[in-house]
Amino acid sequence: MPLNRKIEELKKRREVVQMGGGEKAIEKQQALGKMTARERILALLDADSFTEYDLFAEHEARDFNMDKQVLHGDGVVIGTGTMSGSPICIFAQDFTVAGGSLGLMHARKITKIMDHALKMRVPLIGINDSGGARIQEGVNSLAGYGEIFFRNTLSSGVIPQISVILGPCAGGAVYSPALTDFVFVVDNISKMFITGPEVIKTVLGEEISMEDLGGARVHSEITGNAHFFAETEAECFDQIKKLISMIPRSNDSQAKRIEPKNPKPEIDIEHVVPGDPKQPYDIRDVVKGIVDDSEFLEVQELWAQNIVIGFGRINGLPCGFVCNQPLVLAGVLDVDSSDKAARFIRYCDAFNMPIITLVDLPGYLPGVDQEHAGVIRHGAKMLYAYSEATVPKLTVILRKAYGGGYIAMGSRHLRSDFVFAWPGAEIAVMGPEGAANIIFRKEIMASEDPEATRKEKVAEYKEKFANPYVAASKGYVDSVIEPSETRKMLMHGIDVAINKSVSGPRKKHGIPPF
Ligand code: HXC
Repeated sequence: MPLNRKIEELKKRREVVQMGGGEKAIEKQQALGKMTARERILALLDADSFTEYDLFAEHEARDFNMDKQVLHGDGVVIGTGTMSGSPICIFAQDFTVAGGSLGLMHARKITKIMDHALKMRVPLIGINDSGGARIQEGVNSLAGYGEIFFRNTLSSGVIPQISVILGPCAGGAVYSPALTDFVFVVDNISKMFITGPEVIKTVLGEEISMEDLGGARVHSEITGNAHFFAETEAECFDQIKKLISMIPRSNDSQAKRIEPKNPKPEIDIEHVVPGDPKQPYDIRDVVKGIVDDSEFLEVQELWAQNIVIGFGRINGLPCGFVCNQPLVLAGVLDVDSSDKAARFIRYCDAFNMPIITLVDLPGYLPGVDQEHAGVIRHGAKMLYAYSEATVPKLTVILRKAYGGGYIAMGSRHLRSDFVFAWPGAEIAVMGPEGAANIIFRKEIMASEDPEATRKEKVAEYKEKFANPYVAASKGYVDSVIEPSETRKMLMHGIDVAINKSVSGPRKKHGIPPF
């Protein structure tokens, strides 16, 4: 056969396979507001940059009539491409082919692209849309998942791993996204659960919809499994592009510097923070007043909102921000906010991103619920993560820094490189009211006018301890600065610390309070 006929044949073969599960299945997919696997990849990557591999892969299963079934591409599309010019490895499960279920060949395709990503040190994006382990392939399907989980763990902290949940992600399949760095979900489309509504009904007799069990909102607001929530697939892809532009392609490199449009922004952060320590405000307004061009990419925006984490640039360099949020629960630390911050700190540390901590909190949330939910164990994760991190760490105490919260939020004692405090900062074991009530209790009770004495003692305590100068006199705070100097101090601190080199005792690895 002449070559041109063979080329024609190749084109025809490609066309057939690229139709996935066929027109009807594609129509069903589109009716649910979902793109097809290839459409998703093309929407995410730079135009004309996608190169597909293993298009003609075929499964080898024989049981349950599988030998008579042709599954195009075995239900997953894999390949490489670029995003804003940077290389990416990607896979997208194709629900139109056997429900995107994962058999041995399907898993081999995914692990092939995972191996490429790790070897070539480029980010991996996985689009999940699948009914889980292909039931007909039995233990081979389970083996496939195990191989994926192993590689997720191997790649963790080496290359960024991003999971996009654009359909069901059922059964053990959920553990691959859970092992990756960032999980993106889309309203009404993403569904993640270990045991589905039918099993729950059979075993527990409880009725629940898939959406209420493990929809996008559930994982963004309640479980914390998702890091980015979007209304549509298109919005989700924009979020992924923004994230990729902020993070380095591997732990060998730095995130890309992009010079700010306005190098000297004039945003008044001084008046964002009320003088009264009990008055709430939105910490994100302070962050936006500090970062380049007020651009802040918040992570896990809808979960554990008493802490705000995310990425922003300082003088062009992407940094991670960890900030108490006085707008929610006065910005206290609790079980979930500690988990949220600790994991993010470890991400920044693994990928060479400076950590900027903005402090304004009354301490840890008291109560039986928190104690029994393990606030000791979870709170310890933050101490561990900050202490272990060796990237530049810069801390600014804006207002309150009481008790264990002061230590946990990137204090000098956990080896922050630079600690700054605004003049209104109150650094103490606890708030003045609580402190005065305890240490002057006898005097207050013995007084003729206990209320007046109490007020007097609160004022006395405030005067002595509720300020940044005691900490500054001990060197725990390096400089007391005007709010308007914050950005300049951070820029300078990052410049000075960017090549910092520290090492700890030799060990295989530590044992964090997981
Ligand atoms: C084989 C599957 C499949 C699976 C779906 N399909 N899931 N085939 N193995 N796990 C097939 C269906 O038979 C159907 O084939 C096609 O995909 C589309 O599925 P539908 O059910 O028609 O789609 P829909 O109504 O949208 O429902 C989607 C769904 C449902 C909710 C995901 O298919 C479902 O509940 N699937 C099983 C989910 C589950 O329990 N998975 C866990 C498996 S155990 P036809 O030929 O009719 O088009 C597991 C453990 C892994 O994953 C452990 C790893 C550690």
